[in-house]
Amino acid sequence: MKQAPETFSRRLIEWQKRHGRHDLPWQRTRDPYRIWLSEIMLQQTQVATVIPYYQRFLERFPDVAALAAAPLAAVIEAWAGLGYYARARNLHRCAQRVMEDHGGRFPATPEELAGLPGIGPSTAAAIAAFAWGRRAAILDGNVKRVFCRHFGIEGVPGTAAADRALWALADSLLPEDDMEAYTQGLMDLGATVCTRPRPACGLCPLQATCVAYRQGRQAELPARRPRPALPERETTLVLISDGQHILFERRPPAGIWGGLLVPPEGEPAAVLARLGLHAEDCLELPPLLHVFTHFRLHIRPVLCRVAPDCHTAAERNLEWLAIGLAPAAGVPTPVKKLVRLVASAGD
Ligand code: ADE
Ligand code: SF4
Repeated sequence: MKQAPETFSRRLIEWQKRHGRHDLPWQRTRDPYRIWLSEIMLQQTQVATVIPYYQRFLERFPDVAALAAAPLAAVIEAWAGLGYYARARNLHRCAQRVMEDHGGRFPATPEELAGLPGIGPSTAAAIAAFAWGRRAAILDGNVKRVFCRHFGIEGVPGTAAADRALWALADSLLPEDDMEAYTQGLMDLGATVCTRPRPACGLCPLQATCVAYRQGRQAELPARRPRPALPERETTLVLISDGQHILFERRPPAGIWGGLLVPPEGEPAAVLARLGLHAEDCLELPPLLHVFTHFRLHIRPVLCRVAPDCHTAAERNLEWLAIGLAPAAGVPTPVKKLVRLVASAGD
């Protein structure tokens, strides 16, 4: 592996200073109230949406005392449009807790901050880093993506095992100083370079040591939660054959295989009785699995041989097709496979 000229954090810090964002309204301040407010607003809302709300909110509630003293309804009103209103209620409660329990000053440790309403460990670390330069690790969705790609972490972010590894990694990467630039650098890289759909690896300060870049696996990392298992369904298809033909039934327009020709579905004895046919014998064929978008269908095919002269079941939705021609008619894929099975069973 190519040796990195500098550590992960050093390169990120240098990059943030030159190419990161410096003019967001909550930067260039050490006021924990302003930093806290921005971090709560940014938890589930994009920067461009947050900016005008942030500025109006600060005009209305310029400090934590003003916010704590306001009626909840006024806070909700100022929040209206940002969504996730639990954040606004927690914001108000948090301001009151800061007034009552901390004498109107935000506590300066990530541990104490994380004990306040609406502040999780990552938000607590961001506030502590931006307001006091504290060494504490952030780990939001963007940061997890950067770490998973750069370090080739295979686990699914959000699962306990992967998150434990990611937190340990985040702690181990913290620089000795420059926590503000480092923390902002992680956020900026995730938001502007190492984006989910099209990471701009050509602009990335971490490219030389990035596992995903080296292996061309940017699209595969971070790993996604496996899709929930599809429900399983079963059906029996009765392949009625006189040795030359197979009997098909046109399906009703709605439902699976709507409008297509499919062998009759149901228990063989019931199907034969319904069609007024008598079988010389019935033979189970190997089961077939067909995967639809919303379920997996286990098909149990049963081949029933009838006498060649019994083509009397002439309902309008029934069709006898020559075995050799059936696959070309409008039959669904698994039925084509079944017809080939019948052709070979007749040999
Ligand atoms: N998202 C969360 N915190 C942020 C910050 N301080 N700047 C930009 N985006 C952010
Ligand atoms: Fe993300 Fe590409 Fe940078 Fe790796 S090199 S961290 S994939 S932007």
